[in-house]
Amino acid sequence: MKFFVDTAEIDDIAELNALGMVDGVTTNPSLIMKSGRDILEVTREICALIDGPVSAEVVALNAEDMIAEGRKLAQIADNIAVKVPLTWDGLKTCKTLTAEGIMVNVTLCFSANQALLAAKAGATFISPFVGRLDDINVDGMELIAEIRQIYDNYGFDTQILVASIRSVEHVTQSALIGADVATIPPAVIRKLAGHVLTDKGLEGFMKDWAKTGQKIL
Ligand code: E4P
Repeated sequence: MKFFVDTAEIDDIAELNALGMVDGVTTNPSLIMKSGRDILEVTREICALIDGPVSAEVVALNAEDMIAEGRKLAQIADNIAVKVPLTWDGLKTCKTLTAEGIMVNVTLCFSANQALLAAKAGATFISPFVGRLDDINVDGMELIAEIRQIYDNYGFDTQILVASIRSVEHVTQSALIGADVATIPPAVIRKLAGHVLTDKGLEGFMKDWAKTGQKIL
């Protein structure tokens, strides 16, 4: 499963990329707002840092303007994936930009039928939001399993990009189900390395090592 980083913070992206943890990046208008950066400027910097797809989201609500915004975002770099919402206009935009050879990430997906439409419109990525479904007491991971089955049933190439990940369990479940990509906030990526028994084991080793009075360096 590929790891995308769900942030517009350059320092986090650079640090995780140096560890080989970054196969791509996703941003959205809220993440751009949090970064306090200009969308074109920060997206250009991210694209220069990362080889994989970098999602940048349109903000227009009608297809004509979404297409114009998408074309402008796609000019930033070859690895831009234009992010469009899962609305009828977003699907029209997806179809048009895909035909022009631009990668498209269809976002704000909350049902299997929406994912089916995005695949038929030629989306490169579909972004189902698991955390926001959990927030309304619907099991977000069940949606990922449904989409996986539907895409496999018909051989759709659209990659399942699990979004709105809030926990390490979301990451494990995404990998078990066979999602293509998980886009993960930096804090959750760091948490993946943690285990209570790792901490406890290390503490024990350090205590015993101190008793030997030895040094390696
Ligand atoms: C990424 O593509 C999505 O925009 C993001 O994962 C949404 O996450 P949130 O529901 O935590 O805002």
